[in-house]
Amino acid sequence: MRKPFVAGNWKMHGSKASILSLVTGLNAQANQLGDVDVAVCPPAIYVDYAKRTISSEAIAVGAQNMAVEPVQGAFTGEVSVEMLKDFDCEYVILGHSERRAIFGETDAEIAQKVKVALTNNVTPILCVGETLEERESGVMESVIATQLDAVLDVVGIDAFSSVVIAYEPVWAIGTGVTASPAQAQEVHAFIRGKLAGLNSAVAEKVIIQYGGSVKPDNAKELFGQADIDGGLIGGASLNADDFIAICKAAG
Ligand code: PGA
Repeated sequence: MRKPFVAGNWKMHGSKASILSLVTGLNAQANQLGDVDVAVCPPAIYVDYAKRTISSEAIAVGAQNMAVEPVQGAFTGEVSVEMLKDFDCEYVILGHSERRAIFGETDAEIAQKVKVALTNNVTPILCVGETLEERESGVMESVIATQLDAVLDVVGIDAFSSVVIAYEPVWAIGTGVTASPAQAQEVHAFIRGKLAGLNSAVAEKVIIQYGGSVKPDNAKELFGQADIDGGLIGGASLNADDFIAICKAAG
């Protein structure tokens, strides 16, 4: 049995005041979470603040990105994996579609970042997903396979027992349009099947989150699908009641 995992991706949102209010709401309800792993991923500069204000052991903290270079050095503006570890970040989101599309991150860079995270015992949340155009032109599976292969080629299948995958159809992110449970399940099964072709034990164990307009009212049905093991939550993770409701739906 896989333990579901829900992570909040706060993206570039928040202030000390709004984060304190959000965390206060999370702290107050954290005892209701049940059997689910939970993390929140604030903007890098607020990781420490979130860590210090979250009072529940049930809520871990992660980052939204990190440098590809494995050690610190002359890389203005970057945050290294060592720095994430210094602040007890357990997770790092890598390859989010916004990083791929807006900041031009390539499959090769993302694969290196996954390797650096794994080498340093920070769990990568590896995002994959297709655009609407790719889905409609029938290349969805090959797009996702390419994104996975880039990482598999660098770290190998066995390392995927320490990787979380987030399937996030680009067309569902922040749009209010969510993939139907059947659409999401189809891709999750494809991903797990692809990994199973390499190592069935690893495939059986790997957590595959769904992300893209998950809300309290659609979470239960999505998380009820056989291969959906929780979610990566953007907008709804900025509201404590909504985020807790989504976590409870997974647990
Ligand atoms: P959303 O974002 O829940 O706001 O659609 C999900 C994500 O980008 O991780």
